[in-house]
Amino acid sequence: MQRLKASVTAIDATEMNAPLYSIPGSTGRTAVADPVVASSTSAVPAEADAVAVPRTVAEVLAQSRIDDVMDELDRDLVGLIPVKTRIRDIAALLVIDKLRAGFGLSAQSPSLHMCFTGNPGTGKTTVALRMAEILHRLGYVRKGHLVAVTRDDLVGQYIGHTAPKTKEVLKKAMGGVLFIDEAYYLYKPENERDYGQEAIEILLQVMENQRDDLVVILAGYQDRMDTFFKSNPGMSSRIAHHLDFPDYAVPELLTIGERMLDQQHYRFGEGAREVFDDYLQRRLQQPHFANARSVRNALERARLRQASRLFADRDRVLTHEDLTTIEVGDIRSSRLFAA
Ligand SMILES: Nc1ncnc2c1ncn2[C@@H]1O[C@H](COP(=O)(O)OP(=O)(O)O)[C@@H](O)[C@H]1O
Ligand SMILES: [Mg+2]
Repeated sequence: MQRLKASVTAIDATEMNAPLYSIPGSTGRTAVADPVVASSTSAVPAEADAVAVPRTVAEVLAQSRIDDVMDELDRDLVGLIPVKTRIRDIAALLVIDKLRAGFGLSAQSPSLHMCFTGNPGTGKTTVALRMAEILHRLGYVRKGHLVAVTRDDLVGQYIGHTAPKTKEVLKKAMGGVLFIDEAYYLYKPENERDYGQEAIEILLQVMENQRDDLVVILAGYQDRMDTFFKSNPGMSSRIAHHLDFPDYAVPELLTIGERMLDQQHYRFGEGAREVFDDYLQRRLQQPHFANARSVRNALERARLRQASRLFADRDRVLTHEDLTTIEVGDIRSSRLFAA
């Protein structure tokens, strides 16, 4: 199994029309992450707006407009039925919690920390972005931005470096969602004095004491996460919701591929979808297969080949169709078909 490095490469929020978010320690994308901009279109259910205390589910939905996000989630993301169902359940819980609050029934803010398990490219980061938006619209987090980090963003190399690093990340994430990818790397019992433990302890405190202002989502492989929770019962007990992201079946991957092409104004030419189907069946057997991310990467390469193919013919007048079509050959010349 491959270890994902920085989360920077894993994320492509633009394609999903999702809000962008900041990644501490990354240099490439900073300004785009302004959480104020990211959430400016959403309805913030501020107390002042609530002319009347909502008494029906419809009123809460109308005030928060989470329906839009839920519909988008259903529409934009292929498959993932169990995940979508769980998100609806969580949203229902929160909506009812709002109605209960109207009667003064909920004293304590609900624990919303979550764990997303699944193989690479199954949509964990993408769904976390949507989750941040839902929590924001319902008023559970002030800003609704998402800060994605890995161990290296939290843990220092030298004594005394970890606490400031972790606190800095937490500061950035306050009012939103902190997404910790491959969270189990924080715990390295094989290293005698590992600074990861220090980061875990700070996280635990904040997850408990500031849970009305920060939601933490831990993500990674299921088996490693299970092991991590066994050794870190404190962390395990603070996670209220576990969502498991299944691998996609080939037909789902094909649909995902078609959607990705469509978003970039490409389409499969005659027979190309079938060849891509064949490609995916082969790719699935290869090491480092990463679900929807492998689809994205394969299509990137197909686009490169299409461009080289068109580039080779200097005098040809290129039509709209020429420029938008991925042909059989653009996929077939992948090295996967060489053997
Ligand atoms: N169900 C889906 N429908 C459409 N695109 C998807 C789906 N799941 C993942 N993707 C796309 O695949 C890529 C990888 O997804 P990501 O959320 O980064 O996966 P993970 O965080 O689990 O590694 C992204 O470009 C994302 O938009
Ligand atoms: Mg990810």
